[in-house]
Amino acid sequence: MARVIVVGSINQDVTVTVDRFPDPGETLSGSSLTYSLGGKGANQAAGAAHSGVAVAFVGAVGSDPSGQRLRSDLASHGVDVTHLREVDGPSGTALITVAASGENTIILDAGANASVTVEPAKASLFPSPADIVVLQAEIPAEANDAALAWAHSFGARVVLNLAPARPTDAAFMARIDILVVNETEAGLTLGTPTPSNPTQAIGIARALRALGPEHVMVTLGADGAAWASGSEAGHCPALTLGEAVDTTGAGDACVGALAAAMALGKPFVEAVADGIRAGSTAVLAPGAAPSYATLPRVTRR
Ligand code: ADP
Ligand code: NA
Repeated sequence: MARVIVVGSINQDVTVTVDRFPDPGETLSGSSLTYSLGGKGANQAAGAAHSGVAVAFVGAVGSDPSGQRLRSDLASHGVDVTHLREVDGPSGTALITVAASGENTIILDAGANASVTVEPAKASLFPSPADIVVLQAEIPAEANDAALAWAHSFGARVVLNLAPARPTDAAFMARIDILVVNETEAGLTLGTPTPSNPTQAIGIARALRALGPEHVMVTLGADGAAWASGSEAGHCPALTLGEAVDTTGAGDACVGALAAAMALGKPFVEAVADGIRAGSTAVLAPGAAPSYATLPRVTRR
């Protein structure tokens, strides 16, 4: 049975609610402090697991108390954490403040994510050609390079979610099998304005496809996603399944479900539809991974 293997980041999200953001030097009281599982890699792994496929995670937590908590949180979503290493120092941490206005600020410390490498996993983790290896941009670029080479040496295909957008070596991009970006990341990657409608987004998807990936998905929030695959391209609307209460983690649910669908052997356009369905479901509940329990299972074609 094909698996999804995520090589990526895992963070302790520490979130506090404030009436307004403090000025420099000011101390304010916050409320409802929460610690939750975060990091695009961990979220996508949890999303893929809730979509119904076997998932292994390759990454690193720190030796701080967050490390053990993150490990058990990720495992509780059904993800195999055998290849989640512990390294000296802090775990990846996101300090998040949410103001009454709904705006937020985020300070990210990469912590252990800066030490992620696929090397230790190589001794005991062997992808099959049907497996899908998922990468993002919250671990060092060299780690992604090595993971791509490792995946391809076994014939496995690679999904790159280029989030956050960062300058990417053209040769690396040319070897990616499946690229997923949101509309902002798409614009930054091409050095063009963010697409402002689905028709423009289809053009952007085609332009990204020309960088080398065989398949491209550009997510457009409530407008769904544009895609390009081989010489074909199109747009799929999002689903309105209820009131959107929190879009945090919609993109990660989408990537997880798309990877699950590819691992189950579905054609790319069906995997895009599964990704959209997962993203549109994740917005119905608060949080990222905590909102994934209700994700629809991706079924074999
Ligand atoms: P990111 O979080 O990476 O910016 P998007 O916001 O584009 O990702 O969301 C990913 C997917 O989730 C979209 O393609 C869409 O299918 C779904 N989605 C996001 N926001 C909404 C929304 N408000 N209503 C319905 N579906 C949504
Ligand atoms: Na959510």
